[in-house]
Order: sequence, then C-alpha cells, then structure tokens
Amino acid sequence: MKDFTLDNLTAEAVAAYTTNASRPRMAHILGSLIRHLHAFAKEVELTEQEWFEGIQFLTATGKMCDTKRQEFILLSDILGLSMVVDAINHAKGGRGTESTVLGPFYVEGAPEVDSGVNIIKRDIGSETVLVTGTVTDADGTPLAGAMLDVWQTSTNQLYDVQDPAAPKWNLRAKIKAHDNGEFSFVSEKPVSYPVPTDGPVGRLLEAGGRHAFRPAHLHFIVTAPNHESVTTHIFVEGDPYLDSDAVFATKADLVAAFESCDDEKLAAEYGLKVPFTRVRYDFVLLSAATA
Ligand code: BEZ
Ligand code: FE
Repeated sequence: MKDFTLDNLTAEAVAAYTTNASRPRMAHILGSLIRHLHAFAKEVELTEQEWFEGIQFLTATGKMCDTKRQEFILLSDILGLSMVVDAINHAKGGRGTESTVLGPFYVEGAPEVDSGVNIIKRDIGSETVLVTGTVTDADGTPLAGAMLDVWQTSTNQLYDVQDPAAPKWNLRAKIKAHDNGEFSFVSEKPVSYPVPTDGPVGRLLEAGGRHAFRPAHLHFIVTAPNHESVTTHIFVEGDPYLDSDAVFATKADLVAAFESCDDEKLAAEYGLKVPFTRVRYDFVLLSAATA
C-alpha cells in the first residue's frame, strides 16, 4: 500500500500523470503543472481557508464567462500570463513589428473598406486623429494586399460592444492598404480606459493594490499574403499609464507620437479642420517562411 507524504506526493502525482499520458507533450505539460502547483502551495504554506478562497475565486471566474465575456482570458491578461505566452510564440528578433495582447474586445467580421476611410460612426465631440503608415516586409518592400483590422475604444472609454448606445462597428474596420503598402484612416484619438472590474478580476486587482487602466491605444491585426500576421497596438506617447499597463502589454517600439498638424491640403483630403492630430506608424511583417 502507498504511503503518500509531503515528501513523496509530488513525485508520485507527476509519475501518475506522465507514465501513461496520451502524448509526450501532454506528459511534459501535466508533469510540470503538478510540480509547480505543489511547489507553490509549499512555498506559501497555503492554509485550507486560502485554498478554498482560491477555489471560490476560480468558480466565480468561470461563472462570469459567456459568449460576450471571457473572465479567464482577462485573468490571464492581468497576471501577465498572456504576454508571457505572446513573447514565447512571437519572437521577432528585432525585424518585424512587435505583437501584443489581442484583448477580449476583438470582433471578427468588421466591414472591409478602402484606405482613407473615416471609421467614426457617431459624433460625440471627440478629438479626431488621422492615422497613416505603411505595411512592408523586413527589407522595406511594400506588401500588396495588406489588410489592417482595426478596433478601439471611444472617447467614453467603451468599446462599441460594451456600449448599447454605440452604432454597430463604431471605430472598427478592415482597411485595405494600397498596393504600395500605404494606408490611412480617420478615427477618434484613443483614450486610456479601465479593463472590466465588475467581476472577480476587479477584486483581484484591488487585492493586489493595482489600478485597472490600460494606456490609450489603437488595436490592429495586420495581414498580408505569404506573411506572418501581427496582432498589435499603437500606444499614445505620453500616456500616464504606459509604465503601469494593467495587462503588461506595452512595448517601447509600439509607442507613437500623436502630433498636431496644420497641413491644409491633407485636412481637405480627409474632411478635417486644421490643426488636427496625426500619427504615423509603419508595420513590418515577416515572411511566412522566416517567421
Ligand atoms: C484591450 O486592450 O482591449 C484589453 C486587453 C486585455 C484585457 C482587457 C482589455
Ligand atoms: Fe484595448
């Protein structure tokens, strides 16, 4: 008969899940998970009360999930796990545009539109911004057929899917770049906003003494034929939350200057009044073969 003790339990549990595991990778992951879980409980000398509070927390997290809300992804985001997984899987070696979190507010199927579009679907007196740039490969060659799936919060700190008053697809579009790789669109200048705090993740942020804010950003998924797509942001230079992003997703190379521009010709082209705010960002995609 087995005599399970604190000294042998971890090795026994690891063996139990790895000896006959369905696949070698499964054995590797389960063995490591058990080792780390046991080490964690031993390191903090977890009390039964704390263990049960953890179970209740995970139960509440699961209950908060439905087709519109994914509290587990949010939990992974605020613990920095999503960005660890991102870094492991998307090392760019300094050649391609850095990736960052997708976040829970991406919606597939935004309307495909030509470059130059204004994606503001209602006027709430926001500061507008002209966004321009290029999509090229790592050698600077323009990528014909590039597409930029864009989404962002409105000035009221809400995504359209969080705001019953927002028109459908407000501040979202799939923008087709020109064959020379250039793209442009007009939108609201993004603002910093809090991640949802009305569930267990909000309580955890509070328990950790953390604020819930993300620095202002535009979201992008940039794709081009035969190239690795990139899921990323452009962050607003000077935002007060750049050093304390609630989801640890800022990267220096993704921060861009939003500058005042008084170019009358450009203003007329996009139906803007001078001076207007402008940001430029050039995306670089790695070829699918090297990525
Ligand atoms: C976002 O930027 O949309 C986001 C990312 C992670 C968690 C919550 C929101
Ligand atoms: Fe966001």
